[in-house]
Amino acid sequence: MKFFLAAALLVATTSGAYVAPTTNYDRCLTPSEADDIATAISNGIDVDLFPDKVFPDQSSYWDMEYHGTYKILKNTQDTISTSYLLYQCGLSTMPFDETELAQFDSVFPVPYEGGIVVTATTQIPNVEILGRRDQICAFAITENLVSSPCLSQVLIPEGKEDGSVTILPLYNDTAVEDYLAANPDSLILGGSWDSAPKMKNKVVISDIGESPQKAIDDGVDVNEAQAEWLEPVGSLFNQEKFAHTYNLERKQRYECHTDNAAQLAAVADDARPKVLWGYFSDYSSGFDAPASPNYYVTYAEHCQADLLIPEEGKEGSIDSWGYKYMTDEEWLEFGRDADVWIYPSDNFNKLLSQKNEYLQQFKAVQNEQVYDYQMSGGEGWFEKRLAEYDIVLLDMCQVVGRNLETFPPHQRMWLRNVFTESPRTLGVCTDVDELFEPRHMECVRNDEAVNTDSDAPGILSEQPSSANQVGLAHAFLASMVLMWTVRA
Ligand SMILES: *[C@@H]1O[C@H](CO)[C@@H](O)[C@H](O)[C@H]1NC(C)=O
Repeated sequence: MKFFLAAALLVATTSGAYVAPTTNYDRCLTPSEADDIATAISNGIDVDLFPDKVFPDQSSYWDMEYHGTYKILKNTQDTISTSYLLYQCGLSTMPFDETELAQFDSVFPVPYEGGIVVTATTQIPNVEILGRRDQICAFAITENLVSSPCLSQVLIPEGKEDGSVTILPLYNDTAVEDYLAANPDSLILGGSWDSAPKMKNKVVISDIGESPQKAIDDGVDVNEAQAEWLEPVGSLFNQEKFAHTYNLERKQRYECHTDNAAQLAAVADDARPKVLWGYFSDYSSGFDAPASPNYYVTYAEHCQADLLIPEEGKEGSIDSWGYKYMTDEEWLEFGRDADVWIYPSDNFNKLLSQKNEYLQQFKAVQNEQVYDYQMSGGEGWFEKRLAEYDIVLLDMCQVVGRNLETFPPHQRMWLRNVFTESPRTLGVCTDVDELFEPRHMECVRNDEAVNTDSDAPGILSEQPSSANQVGLAHAFLASMVLMWTVRA
């Protein structure tokens, strides 16, 4: 390191040139910066244009290598297995020759400034969090599935006009290739079930590829693993630092809420609440039973509740396209005693009008403890719940009776009581250029709020243990400021 500094100083004084950046470039290099960097490299200086780096912590299927003037992003999912060369925009010479470049599935300069083609709604929050909404140029998804208020506004009603977002046909690689040919400065964000993962100008970055079973095998949390894909998305724009910080703060809130739920459960002497998770499929005429492991099982565990899982061989006698569904009788036997029923669909109220007498046999229905996911709109759940997994956890804990303390106080944002609450939406967009507005609440640690027992093991973390309301307000403000400076 000392040698490196000395060498840098030497070059700086002799040719008056390369100064190592202290943060990743948020723009292309100028021609003179590029020349200085080329000179430094030929003088044997260990150039590093990416001082902000990200590496997977919880996720299984992405990887990142940093090499001074370029980085290599990999998707290691078996069915994808791709690598991408991301080189600093504005370099005077490419770090590889033509033949070597052919080994990469896509090659493009960063920070990436061209258009983005979105192929899955879960990609939307990541792009928005990074402040890149205005780069979205096309959707290869059905437009009525888009929930983001600001994006919906660009799509509808102006969606078909020049300059606004283009809608491409679904699952049609030819149409995507045609679009690319006409718009060579576009980059496609592929998904985990992509049929053509190796298409030029495509980067497969997909949170939903993470496997709940693999997460358990590796001792990681599947919800954290999925959300961490914000970091490789950030690397496309040299926003590693911002993406990592955002991700880490969200993870800390999630873990803090988890700790609080454990503490609440430890002092409550009642039994663990039983949770039923499932919906009636009109298409398959049966109830879709929960399967373990799964993301919602993880939520229930963190809330110190027991999610009912059918015994092996008892997943249901209806076979529909290889999936098992339960008959009314089977579902009743399985779920009648659950305290809370989470209904991950939008048709409970219809079901209630059709099968009222049947449903009244469930304890959760009698007690009006049935929740669907429509508190922020039906499609919003699919688009945004991965990005707001800390908020989903708070909702889940609240409906099982564990009211976790937050600042400001938590209001449910996803789970809606189907008896007493109306479906809501993600709100309205007042200005399409406005930055992403986070909706989370800061965690107030139980030990700060209720006791100061310093002997309690394993509860305190690196979070300031003496944080008071002022400290929390400060943290809250700081995260707001962070949001507002995303494109600074
Ligand atoms: C896919 O898109 C192309 C070009 O837009 C079109 O010609 C073709 O008919 C489409 N294929 C299908 C299966 O819809």
